[in-house]
Amino acid sequence: MKTITSVRVGVIGAGLMGREVASAFGRWFALLDCPVRAELTAVCDVNPAALEWFRQVPTIRHFLSDHSALLALDDVDVVYVAVPHHLHEAIYLDVLRAGKDLFAEKPFGIDLAAARRIRDEATKRGRFVRISSEFPFLPGVQRALGVIKSGELGRLLEIRNSFLHSSDLDPNKAINWKRQSKFCGEPGVMNDLGMHVAHVPLRLGWKPVSLYAQLQKIYTERPDGRGGMASCDTWDNATVHATAEIAGASVPLTLEMKRMAPTETNTWSLEVLGTEGGVRFSTKEPKTFWRYRRQAEQTWEKTDLGFAMPFKTITGGIFEPGFPDLLQQMWAAYLTERAGLLGERFGCATPDEAVAHHEVWAAALTSQREQRVVSL
Ligand SMILES: NC(=O)c1ccc[n+]([C@@H]2O[C@H](COP(=O)([O-])OP(=O)(O)OC[C@H]3O[C@@H](n4cnc5c(N)ncnc54)[C@H](O)[C@@H]3O)[C@@H](O)[C@H]2O)c1
Repeated sequence: MKTITSVRVGVIGAGLMGREVASAFGRWFALLDCPVRAELTAVCDVNPAALEWFRQVPTIRHFLSDHSALLALDDVDVVYVAVPHHLHEAIYLDVLRAGKDLFAEKPFGIDLAAARRIRDEATKRGRFVRISSEFPFLPGVQRALGVIKSGELGRLLEIRNSFLHSSDLDPNKAINWKRQSKFCGEPGVMNDLGMHVAHVPLRLGWKPVSLYAQLQKIYTERPDGRGGMASCDTWDNATVHATAEIAGASVPLTLEMKRMAPTETNTWSLEVLGTEGGVRFSTKEPKTFWRYRRQAEQTWEKTDLGFAMPFKTITGGIFEPGFPDLLQQMWAAYLTERAGLLGERFGCATPDEAVAHHEVWAAALTSQREQRVVSL
């Protein structure tokens, strides 16, 4: 398919994720059937040093330190904002009020109230807004979604979705804004990792109706990077034991988000078990899809899927997908949906889904505080 339209993107927040997006756009030519072309025209960061890396990106015409200046540009159609959580609401609202479309980072506001205000402003202004959540674009997750939607799993028995890290086990790892509630938000690890575990269940209509949460603060201080120690007050690990109503039955749904899960490095996993079959996928084996079918002898079948991405690329079908591929697929989905051409393909997380995920974490905080099951 030929490229039919070009969209000019501005990035606010030139940190870890800002650079990843520039990288995804830089090899946009790898996509074979995306009807929209992404062009990075402007970048903004309050830290001038953060802008330096972007000087090598040939399409960027504007290097700015004030996001209002970026929002005033005529050659920016869509704005991607990747800044700390306490700044989401103010900057997202500025983007919408400037008449630009928004690709927001999770968690879409520091808390539920902020998420609702952003969602409502987007609705009022009729802007196209989606939220970053890349794991569902993996071939294994796409295959799992297809099997789940087909009904072949029978009556669902249980669902588990987790996203696990371990680098925080090192007590000498220096503090950053993600480990302080005033910047990350009271939900802590749920703000950081929660969109990733909530996106697929919410898309399938599996919103918890009740939950009990176990939240842990494990290290309370960390090196401040200047020779001293700084208070570290966010929830580090969260296990949310929820119930979802699915086809008239109450089904256990476990959502796990952990910064201290020994041996895990960015491990995203999904397991859905039913009376007739099951599906299982983990980024530990990024090309491998596991499937269980109820038979006389019960076994898990393992299939290597290769590079079966929603948007075709020049990459050979036998190769393995990785994080940069997912980001590019997610952006292809965002821009294609914005152009009204997504069709049956999987779309990025919506503002309503982001609000719904905050509702779950708000209930989890209540559950922790009051040590009880909370209804949503
Ligand atoms: N989708 C994912 O997989 C993923 C992964 C990591 C982080 N994130 C999300 O991305 C967002 C950013 O995280 P990060 O890891 O890139 O953070 P980061 O700390 O690496 O980068 C944030 C950048 O924002 C800049 N900044 C701060 N205030 C600003 C302002 N007023 N105007 C312009 N720039 C400003 C900082 O100087 C910094 O360069 C967060 O919402 C985070 O949750 C998403």
